[in-house]
Amino acid sequence: DKAGHKHFMSKEIAEQPTVLQGALSHYISPNADAVTLPESGIDFAKIERMTMVACGTAYYACMVAKYWFEQVARMPVEIDVASEFRYREPPVTAGTAALFVSQSGETADTLAALRYMKGKADTILSIVNVETSTIARESDLALPILAGAEIGVASTKAFTCQLTTLAILAIEAARARDHLTDAEVSENLSRLRALPGVINLALGIEDKCKTIARQLAEARDILFLGRGAMYPLAHEGALKLKEISYIHAEAYASGELKHGPIALVDENVPIIVMAPRDSLFEKTVSNMQEVMARGGKVLLITDKQGAAEAGDGVWDTIIMPEIDAFLAPILYAVPAQLLAYHTAIAKGTDVDQPRNLAKSVTVE
Ligand code: F6R
Repeated sequence: DKAGHKHFMSKEIAEQPTVLQGALSHYISPNADAVTLPESGIDFAKIERMTMVACGTAYYACMVAKYWFEQVARMPVEIDVASEFRYREPPVTAGTAALFVSQSGETADTLAALRYMKGKADTILSIVNVETSTIARESDLALPILAGAEIGVASTKAFTCQLTTLAILAIEAARARDHLTDAEVSENLSRLRALPGVINLALGIEDKCKTIARQLAEARDILFLGRGAMYPLAHEGALKLKEISYIHAEAYASGELKHGPIALVDENVPIIVMAPRDSLFEKTVSNMQEVMARGGKVLLITDKQGAAEAGDGVWDTIIMPEIDAFLAPILYAVPAQLLAYHTAIAKGTDVDQPRNLAKSVTVE
């Protein structure tokens, strides 16, 4: 049931405030002073480092989580795509927790990576949407993201629910490792609780995305740029666009531009810059100016203050609601989704069932 939407993907994008609300009340105490995990819990004070493994969009969620865990919990995190991890046979030292992220819970490479880590890692955690899945069953602790069934092949609400669950875990890890005081924990959790409202506000950019998408649909190649925790979002934006519009898109860390990819830039390659006004904003603006000086067509996705500070010369701007830097990656999933969706519509592709793709990849 598409609930009045033309596609499952658009229904699932629109559902995000509601499903996030559910996940937040599942994992955060009513007065926002504590993270509520199952009885068996996770003792982050005993964990020295984490290895996070997943595929596709779920891997990009891990990539964001690495920034979060390192920044707020000061915990070293290693991330890898499951298909590489499983055959590398990496050594595992004591004190390592393994975390697997999978919407379906059935992805063959992720499951194989999980089985490799059994008996090697101190504990096996998973973050899944399907609670009865193999990955959930084979974990010491499986945390549901509570996104509800996701039908569209391109993952949307599962990604934001994965991120939200990971953000909550990072805050819990920071508390357990004494990097956040009780007051800071509840400040962070309260901000998280406001997220559904901010996402709802962000859905208001849809018309703007639709207009821009008509022009993106003409492109053969598109670049996505981001810095810090926005770099994984650039990857997610590029993946979403490739999957459903079949336009070649690539993500780069903004600072890597001058090490090669800037050679691709001309007036035919739109460059989508995801940059809320945070501590790295000025650096990203200078990368943007390098691109514009070479005739590059920049679409800047930022907030009001960022737009004001970026100055002239950009092709277009999408103004996002203001948000705390820590939570920005969750919010900026919305423009990544909406741009891909409307570009695919403009191209007339099959949004919910893109060619060559399956919702659940149970073969390697
Ligand atoms: C992208 C997408 C895929 C999946 C990947 C992992 O939109 O849907 O990249 O994220 O196949 O799938 P799960 O999360 O089921 O392990």
